[in-house]
Amino acid sequence: RRFISTTTNPTITPMEEDNPGHVKYQLSKLLKVSLDTVAPELNLEPLVTICPAKFPGDYQCNNAMSAWKLIKGTRPEFRSPNAVGQAIKDNVPASEMIESCTVAGAGFVNIFLSSKWVAQSIQKMLTKGIKIWAPKLQVTTAVVDFSSPNIAKEMHVGHLRSTIIGDTLARMLEFSNVKVLRRNHVGDWGTQFGMLIEYLFDEFPNWEDLGEQAIGDLQAFYKSSKQRFDDDPVFKERAQKAVVLLQGGEDKYRKAWTKICEISRREFNQVYQRLAVDLEEKGESFYNPYISEVLASLSNQGLIEDSEGARVIFIEGKNIPLIVVKSDGGFNYASTDLSALWYRLNEEKADWIIYVTDVGQSLHFDMFFSAAKRAGWLPAGENLYPKTSHVGFGLVLGDDGKRFRTRSSEVVRLVDLLDEAKTRSKAALVERGKATEWTAEELEQTAEAVGYGAVKYADLKNNRLTNYTFNFDQMLSDKGNTAVYLLYAHARICSIIRKSGKDIEELKKTGIIVLDHADERVLGLHLLQFAEIVEDACTNLLPNTLCEYLYNLSENFTRFYTNCQVVGSAEETSRLLLSEATAVVMRKCFFLLGITPVYKI
Ligand code: ARG
Repeated sequence: RRFISTTTNPTITPMEEDNPGHVKYQLSKLLKVSLDTVAPELNLEPLVTICPAKFPGDYQCNNAMSAWKLIKGTRPEFRSPNAVGQAIKDNVPASEMIESCTVAGAGFVNIFLSSKWVAQSIQKMLTKGIKIWAPKLQVTTAVVDFSSPNIAKEMHVGHLRSTIIGDTLARMLEFSNVKVLRRNHVGDWGTQFGMLIEYLFDEFPNWEDLGEQAIGDLQAFYKSSKQRFDDDPVFKERAQKAVVLLQGGEDKYRKAWTKICEISRREFNQVYQRLAVDLEEKGESFYNPYISEVLASLSNQGLIEDSEGARVIFIEGKNIPLIVVKSDGGFNYASTDLSALWYRLNEEKADWIIYVTDVGQSLHFDMFFSAAKRAGWLPAGENLYPKTSHVGFGLVLGDDGKRFRTRSSEVVRLVDLLDEAKTRSKAALVERGKATEWTAEELEQTAEAVGYGAVKYADLKNNRLTNYTFNFDQMLSDKGNTAVYLLYAHARICSIIRKSGKDIEELKKTGIIVLDHADERVLGLHLLQFAEIVEDACTNLLPNTLCEYLYNLSENFTRFYTNCQVVGSAEETSRLLLSEATAVVMRKCFFLLGITPVYKI
């Protein structure tokens, strides 16, 4: 495999071809010309950022200081970093995108974009569609391994987080033209199946003819079979034999296993259906046939050693090794993950493999990623492809600050949780009189969009590494940084456009956007930053970046709408187009976050 090195961005750089929606990228190209004129010997990569609030300007180039340190000995004409900044500024090629530049302090070049160029870029997006603002990444194929509950065990809020976060990451990568393999790495293999199968045989002698409902709650089934396993040594022995028979492919055992998996799968699908999450199951069992060969090749490389009866891989800097064959000869989570990684790299040709689980599993990922590097499957450097990333996340807490549980039972059924969100949002709509105003179907669809959207957004808006508190009242409030507030804001924009009575498609053809008012300009510039925000969110695997962008977009729109009259003003056409562009970008944000937009409220 070819190892590709990236240059400027720590993880992904936009591809060399034109990236029209990407301001930072466009500016970097201009600044590269300037830097190569000022100090060709340094071959500098431009450091361009959005201008921090305390500085004047829209963007900033921060190369002067570091460049000065490198050249001060050989280039006496640069007496200070500021002088280097001046030279950088003076050598920026003329471009319609830049209005002017200034130099401040230690050579920061502040860049003011041309309002006309910003307006034209937005207009281009309106006519060509927002896909022209898709970031272009260097990655061709990515695996997103997410959700991944365990058969017959509870699908808990951790799996819900994984499902929501993983789906968003997949959507953002797909939008960036990456081929994404959405993988549900379900725990459908392992020793627990011995006891589940034997318990099924004991309790349901006619198990083959049973409908899927007959077994009832699989979690309860799991618990009681575990109970018997712990209490009854004869059962335990049978269960252990059953594992061997199952793994040996014995027909009856295989069938029982299939049955148990099917029942679980039906449960999981109810959650995926409600959340409209699409993913393909390739569970642990899928990789089982590859394990022996993969371990044999690692063994041939001399990476696997004996340790206290087990077969292990030692990892530099870790005092415990990665166990790949247990002392009883069985394979484990790590042997499966190594084989899955081998498969994803060699069979699926993935360049980026992303695993979404709670942070509690960080050590596991860290260890087997290191093992893969030792084996030479992955390049050793940080910014090289193919690459693996563990997307860890924190806990979901209840109002009591402890792990989220329901009042009565200890685990939360995810389907019930989602249904409650919908019920509550429906009640709020009914209270606002929508039951009489809308058709039953409209009410239902809006309640779903708002309810499920609220659950997703409440999760995604936080930095994923932090714990967050699950609170229906908060997430369903129409004030503050919530999905409800944002969905309403979008619906309000749609209603402004509708009420104007203008045909927006006609306006797109003939109208012109002008950003004269300060609040129009702020909104316009914010719209234009969409592409680089999505790229940042992908690069850092942080969906909260996009949530923050969306919330600020809504705030910027509100300020614009408060201070600039739209309908009936002399600037009506331009302002309607700006409103439409805002709605388009908001909708794409919702889409990327897996939230269904609503158009009226
Ligand atoms: N089944 C695991 C769990 O419930 C998550 C699997 C994550 N994916 C992986 N390739 N290890 O914790």
